[in-house]
Amino acid sequence: MNEHDSEVISGMLAQRGYMELPESTETDGAHADPDIIIINTCSIRDNADQRFFGTLGQLKKLKAKNPDFAVCVCGCMMQQEHITDRIRRSYPWVDVIFGTHNIHEFPDMLEELYENRAKTERAKAAQPAPGAHQDYARAKHEIRSSRETRVDRIYEDTEEIVEGLPAKRLYTHKSFVNIMFGCNNFCAYCIVPYTRGREKSRCPEDILTEVKALSADGVREVTLLGQNVNSYRGVDRAGQQWDFTDLIYALNGVEGLERIRFMTSHPKDLSDKLIEAFARCDKLCNYIHLPVQAGSSRVLERMNRKYTREQYLQLVKKLREAVPDIAISTDIIVGFPGETEEDFRQTLELAEEVRYDSAFTFLYSPRPGTPAAEYEDQIPEEVKHERFNRLVEMMNRISAEKNAAYVGRVCTVLVDGPDKKSRGMLSGRTDEFKLVDFEGPEEITGKLVEVEITGSNTFSLKGRLL
Ligand code: 5AD
Ligand code: SF4
Repeated sequence: MNEHDSEVISGMLAQRGYMELPESTETDGAHADPDIIIINTCSIRDNADQRFFGTLGQLKKLKAKNPDFAVCVCGCMMQQEHITDRIRRSYPWVDVIFGTHNIHEFPDMLEELYENRAKTERAKAAQPAPGAHQDYARAKHEIRSSRETRVDRIYEDTEEIVEGLPAKRLYTHKSFVNIMFGCNNFCAYCIVPYTRGREKSRCPEDILTEVKALSADGVREVTLLGQNVNSYRGVDRAGQQWDFTDLIYALNGVEGLERIRFMTSHPKDLSDKLIEAFARCDKLCNYIHLPVQAGSSRVLERMNRKYTREQYLQLVKKLREAVPDIAISTDIIVGFPGETEEDFRQTLELAEEVRYDSAFTFLYSPRPGTPAAEYEDQIPEEVKHERFNRLVEMMNRISAEKNAAYVGRVCTVLVDGPDKKSRGMLSGRTDEFKLVDFEGPEEITGKLVEVEITGSNTFSLKGRLL
C-alpha cells in the first residue's frame, strides 16, 4: 500500500513537471543533488520508526548545504500524533508534513511552501533586523531552516475517495490497483486501522475503467490492493453492491489483461464464492497470501483475529480441493504477548501441516495505541528471537522443498526484466508467484514466456527459456 502511495506521489509530481533523480547522483554529472526529498513512512513495526528518525537526522546536513532543499514527510507514521509532535519539536528542517488521507494535496502543499518562502524572504529583505548586516545567503539559510514556512496538514479520515490520481509505474507490464482503503478489523497488535482509517471501497466502475486503461497501456498483470480485499463492498452507479468476487469476474473479462493477483485476504472473510473463482477465472493467479499470524486458537483470540486454528486449516483444505496446486504464503507474528512455548509449538505444527510456499515472519513489536501494547504479559526479547529463528529455519526448509518440486516442470513466466544481481540473466514470476531466473534477451521483458525449471533454492527457481 505504501509502495503504491509512493507511485501516486511520483505520478502527481511528474505531471507538474518535477523530475525524479536516480538514487545515487554521485557518478552522474548530468544531475544536481535533489531539491526535494520525500520520505514515505510505514508504522507497522518499530524498526521502521527508528530508521525514519535516523534518516531525518541525516538530512539536516543536506539542508545546510542547499538552502533550497525541501524535506517532505508523509505516510502512516504521520497519522500518529506522538510522531508528528516529535517532528515538529525536534526536526525543524522538515518543510512539508502530510498524512495518508491528503496525499492528493501534496503538489499544492509543495507550491505553498515555495510561496511561503518567497513571502518570508521578501519580508525579511524589506525589514532587516536592527543591527544585522545584510548577509543575504545567511538570511536565506536561516529562513530555510525555520519553522515559519512549514506546510503541515494532516486530515482526519473521511468517506471521500479521491479518484483519478496519476501513478508512476515501476514496471510497464504490471501495476498495483487500489480497490479499497482502510481497515475495520482492529487486530490487537496492529496500527493500521488507526493510521489508514475505516474501510471504504472504490466504485467498481472506476476500478474497471482504470484496469481497462492500464491494459490498453500494456499492463498484463494487476495486483488488487486492500488491507482486507475480501470485505470489498463497492456500489456501482446503478446503486448495486458488488462484492470482491463480483469484481474479480468482471476484471477477468478485461481484454489484454492476463493475470489478476490480490492482497491481502483476511481468513475470516474468505468466501466459498472466492474459492470457486480461483477454479473458474482463468486470469486469477494460482496464488493466495493468507496471513495466519499464529497457530494457537488461544493466541488468535487474544489477537482478535476472529477465526480458530481449525477454521483456518479448513480454509486451506477447501482452497486445495478447488485448486490442488495453489501456492499459499502467509504472515506469522512470533512472541505475541502471552505466547507460551505450547502456543508457539502449535504455530510450528500448523506451518508444517499447511506447508506454505513462503512466509513473512515478524517479531512482535508493541505499537503505542494498540490494545496488545498494554498487555502485561509481554515476551522477553531473547525468547522472541529464539522462537523466531526456529520458525524461520523451518519455513526456509519447507520453501526449499516446495521449490524443488518445481524442477522439471514448464511454467509460464511474466518477464520482469534483467535480473538485478546477475548480468545477462532475466527474472520473472510464475502464476504461483515463484521468482524464476533464466537467460534470455532483454526484449522479452513484459512478455509471458514458457520456461522449463531446471533448478531451485529457498527463495527462487532457475530455468531455461523454451
Ligand atoms: N508486530 C509485528 N508484526 C506485525 N504485523 C502487524 N503489526 C505487527 C506488530 N505490531 C505484521 C502482521 C501483518 C503484517 C503486514 O505485519 O503479520 O500481517
Ligand atoms: Fe492490521 Fe488486522 Fe487490519 Fe490486517 S486485518 S491491517 S493485521 S488490523
